[in-house]
Amino acid sequence: MKRMIGLTAAVCALSMLAGCSGDTASESTIGVAIYKYDDSFMTGVRNQIQKSAVDGEYKVDIVDSENKQTVQNDKVDLFLTKKYPALAINPVDRTAAGTLIDKCKNANTPVVFVNREPLAEDMKKWDKVYYVGAKAEQSGEIQGKMIAAWWEKNKASGGDRNGNGLLDYVMLTGEIGHQDATLRTEYAIKTLTQEGVRVSKLAEQTANWNRNEGQSVLETILNAGTNAKDVDVVFANNDDMALGAIEALKAAGFFGDDKSKYVPVVGVDATGAGKEAIKNGTMYGTAYNDAINQGKAAYELAAILAKGETPGADNFEYQVTDGRYVWIDYKEVTRENVDSLQ
Ligand code: GAL
Repeated sequence: MKRMIGLTAAVCALSMLAGCSGDTASESTIGVAIYKYDDSFMTGVRNQIQKSAVDGEYKVDIVDSENKQTVQNDKVDLFLTKKYPALAINPVDRTAAGTLIDKCKNANTPVVFVNREPLAEDMKKWDKVYYVGAKAEQSGEIQGKMIAAWWEKNKASGGDRNGNGLLDYVMLTGEIGHQDATLRTEYAIKTLTQEGVRVSKLAEQTANWNRNEGQSVLETILNAGTNAKDVDVVFANNDDMALGAIEALKAAGFFGDDKSKYVPVVGVDATGAGKEAIKNGTMYGTAYNDAINQGKAAYELAAILAKGETPGADNFEYQVTDGRYVWIDYKEVTRENVDSLQ
């Protein structure tokens, strides 16, 4: 008997080294790959996943994909070799999710995608594939409604800075190909038009979700032609780019004593720095992108799948739409309600 126990222990130790299914540490760990760590909003989601794991049944092994799909593919391969029972992936390139789904399906490892939505046809490749995110259209609508109301109130009293009757706008977009960049841009403008606002696009350019790029892109735009005189509003697909835009506007004399040099700047996310800018009056508003609930839902869903269960009303506090999507709502944030946000 004693010998048998000894033998079992030796086999266990060996299989742990090999990372095979006898590895209990692996069995209780969810592998999480983030597209890159240096991203304000995704840092919020990542921190929440970490926090959920502290009280949860599963540990997390979170890795930085360094904004390179090849790096992420390698990290996912490693997770699968370690036989983690479920993964949560924030893809670098959402069109590469299909390949990741194939890998997970081959290993029979359920996967939850977060924040960067795989293409619909890829989501349908397997029934153990889920997505947790927010409906990008909704954030665009929130921005559009906010600015339509502002325009209605201010256009006759200096808001229409060049008096042409049109809302002259600049749009800073996120990464090309990201569903949030495409849909936020489209729906912000669509909503304004539906509200009866006549718009004129001065410029639209990507700044890759990035604050410094937002600043330099807007600097260039403000220096071109009569843009600095014409601009009535700056839309940014996220707060970081909005904050960069505010710096460029400040350098061009906006937000000072000269009241003719004011334009509302709107973002998306409600990051800490974004909320501060709303409080100090430089950022007009934002759409709260709920990192807490996205992180929590992703962790809880992955944990349910890791146990081999299917999410439903009895084991999951979020609603699952079409059997695979968890949608977390955006919320309008302005000076009026910014203090009530967490
Ligand atoms: C968006 C967010 C951006 C950026 C991006 C990364 O939802 O608004 O700030 O984090 O995701 O994929």
